[in-house]
Amino acid sequence: MRKVGVLTGGGDAPGLNAVIRAVVKSACNTGIEVIGLEDSFDGLLDPRRTRRLTPRDVTGILRLGGTILGTTNRGNPFDYPSDDPGGRADYSDRCIKTFSEMDLDALVVIGGDGTLAIAHQFYLKGIPVVGVPKTIDNDIVGTTSCFGFDTAVSFASDAIDRLHSTAEAHKRIMVVEVMGRYAGWIALHAGIAGGADVILIPEIAYDVERIAQRLRERDQWGAKFSIVVVAEGAKPVGGSHTVRAAAKPGYVERLGGVGAVVAEQLEHLTGRESRFVVLGHLQRGGAPTPFDRVLATRFGAKAVELIRRGVYGRMVANNPPDIVHVPLADVVGRTRTVPLDYDLLTSARALGVSLGD
Ligand code: F6P
Repeated sequence: MRKVGVLTGGGDAPGLNAVIRAVVKSACNTGIEVIGLEDSFDGLLDPRRTRRLTPRDVTGILRLGGTILGTTNRGNPFDYPSDDPGGRADYSDRCIKTFSEMDLDALVVIGGDGTLAIAHQFYLKGIPVVGVPKTIDNDIVGTTSCFGFDTAVSFASDAIDRLHSTAEAHKRIMVVEVMGRYAGWIALHAGIAGGADVILIPEIAYDVERIAQRLRERDQWGAKFSIVVVAEGAKPVGGSHTVRAAAKPGYVERLGGVGAVVAEQLEHLTGRESRFVVLGHLQRGGAPTPFDRVLATRFGAKAVELIRRGVYGRMVANNPPDIVHVPLADVVGRTRTVPLDYDLLTSARALGVSLGD
């Protein structure tokens, strides 16, 4: 083992730089050279978009959000946008050629479900790959947590804290829309941490009339304001999630807008003034929390350990108290949603929090 490549793919998440740092330091300390590939797999399409990373290059990046390597959630080399008839091309063989021309022995791929699926395809084509799970959504199968999630929850619960005082002062309903795609982890954890009165997650279809009834009850016992946390993927009974931009070749659908819809409906049904806030990409920015820095560091060091042992086609994973590894094949194409028997849902209901059902 002499030389490994590392790349970051998909949407950024706080902690990416902490993984890169851990990979570079633990590899270099055992005599392995690290090459950083820029902008996800694009770095394998063009060797000019690569650079050697030494411990000097990663000093001071532990606390930085974003990724020093750049990232993209487009540009799947197996299905790349092109000017060819049909508009798509498969450049995977070109990537494999670059991989061998650069004398790389293995590849660390840090990414979410889409990026890990591409990593798995390259593994099946013979590239020794180790995956590192990343997402603020916390929806990757096989790991109890992903770095980025704790930071997103921390930001969202701080935002909810701030909205409490203005909601109370104006006796309003404040609706907060958070990210998470088709999983409700961010909404549920931030909602509970922020003391929300209503939490709507994609896993439980909501009935807006029942929510309005709960808010009227709050009014009756004297709470003249309410906080409603809505996951961007939340959907009404018999309906679907709210889409801001439909999927098109090379692009997944963009969710968003449900917060505005719910705020308007609740204002109409309760007669109480309502406002909505979309936290959006603020949840992905900024410095990772200490929890995410530690998890990211453990993931990065574990990935290098696997490479040194010649264990490929695996994803490092959190399985407290251990960092383990699971087959990439078991992870791809699946989504870890909030289980309906999750004790936090039971606790929320016990406290009188409406889950919209
Ligand atoms: O997967 C992370 C995530 O932030 C989701 O929560 C959100 O739906 C999506 O990415 C937004 O993607 P983009 O940055 O492409 O708008």
